Amino acid sequence: MDATTAPQFGPPQGEQELAAAEDIVCQAFAMPPEEGPAWRKRIEAGGAQLRVLREGGSVAATVAHFSMGQWFGGRSVPLVGIAGVGVAPARRGQGTGTRLMQTCLRELRAQGVPLAGLYPATQPLYRRVGFEQAGSRHEIRVQLSGLDFQERSLSLRPIQEADLPAIHDVYRRHAQRQQGWLDRGTYIWNRVLRPRGEPTAYGYLVEGHAGVEGYLYLSRRVAPHGLRQELSLSDLVALTPAAGRRLLSFIGDHRSLADEVVWRGGAADPLLFLLREQTYQVKHLFTWMLRVLDVPAALQARGYLAGLSGALHLEVDDDLFPENRGRFVLEVENGEAEVRPGGDGDMKLHVRTLAPLYSGFLSPAALQAAGVLEADDVSLRTATALFSGPPPAMPDMY
Ligand SMILES: CC(C)(COP(=O)(O)OP(=O)(O)OC[C@H]1O[C@@H](n2cnc3c(N)ncnc32)[C@H](O)[C@@H]1OP(=O)(O)O)[C@@H](O)C(=O)NCCC(=O)NCCS
Repeated sequence: MDATTAPQFGPPQGEQELAAAEDIVCQAFAMPPEEGPAWRKRIEAGGAQLRVLREGGSVAATVAHFSMGQWFGGRSVPLVGIAGVGVAPARRGQGTGTRLMQTCLRELRAQGVPLAGLYPATQPLYRRVGFEQAGSRHEIRVQLSGLDFQERSLSLRPIQEADLPAIHDVYRRHAQRQQGWLDRGTYIWNRVLRPRGEPTAYGYLVEGHAGVEGYLYLSRRVAPHGLRQELSLSDLVALTPAAGRRLLSFIGDHRSLADEVVWRGGAADPLLFLLREQTYQVKHLFTWMLRVLDVPAALQARGYLAGLSGALHLEVDDDLFPENRGRFVLEVENGEAEVRPGGDGDMKLHVRTLAPLYSGFLSPAALQAAGVLEADDVSLRTATALFSGPPPAMPDMY
């Protein structure tokens, strides 16, 4: 198949389309043109699929997507991450971005993916195709002067290649207890080990009798015109308080030349609880969005608090996918959900509103106050119990 017979949406065909796609991405994200091929190799190495939208016989827009999961209620829900959305500069403002996203979402739904996620550069484009705010990413900045733990009972050493399975296991054990953290695939792990725009990341792990208890990946950057450094962590996980204190001591050991350490995550990080004083700042960086592609599959795939049971009668509207439109009953028993069509439709909402409800980003009462959900008091109480949990957060960016 060549570019003239290719369908409207699909992988780039031939050198000319590849070059056109790279040009769109470089212009969209202000990268020098010579970085286009390296960008494409990097995303392909992470397992991402590059797609182009053809309009008027040439490539008009690009998008990349890659498979992973996202932890909700202790279960990993299959999620496709969307990145690299770009429209050729001369074609913007004419609906191309909207058509690109609609076509891409149709492809993902046809593949049986229940959830899509992204970090939006602009919200209206993504809201128009069914995405909504679903969780946060915060920057946590800690002054090293406050990291005077002197805790060295657990051993700490550099991470070797052979440690990676144990590191992935530690991450997974931690992430599944959080709400909204990614069940990482290669694409995200590559970004942890080689953070974009940062110098090399050095990995260190902490070991106890039972194996690895925590780890971090650390980059050091020298401040302009001086010797002082800023530390940036692309990952920081402590399964035990002792591992947390050991990792914080290790970071503190950099204080002769570094003043601050930065990492990303939720607004209430338990590691901050270990500090003697509030020698830190937490800043909201971004709100990520979700699109529920398959209503029953997504509701069934997430976990719910064990011991909770209840039934919620939903009536969902969806402009893009008729299969999501209509009434569903969500029945939860012992942390497991069953979804069947029908019921009384006591809680009325657009599929967009289902995203913050599903992730626990906003309570049903807050969504009702925002005018995007209608429900009786019993349904509000049931939904509040079913979808409650820690605020959804995500340390990773994609
Ligand atoms: C954002 C982008 C993909 C939109 O493409 P587009 O073809 O212009 O989009 P559409 O014509 O379908 O417009 C859809 C909506 O996107 C928003 N939008 C479009 N261009 C925008 C811009 N430059 N800035 C902010 N929002 C914009 C508008 O809200 C628009 O809706 P409206 O016309 O009702 O206001 C395009 O401007 C682009 O490639 N920008 C640079 C890269 C980028 O930001 N990518 C997104 C990364 S998440």
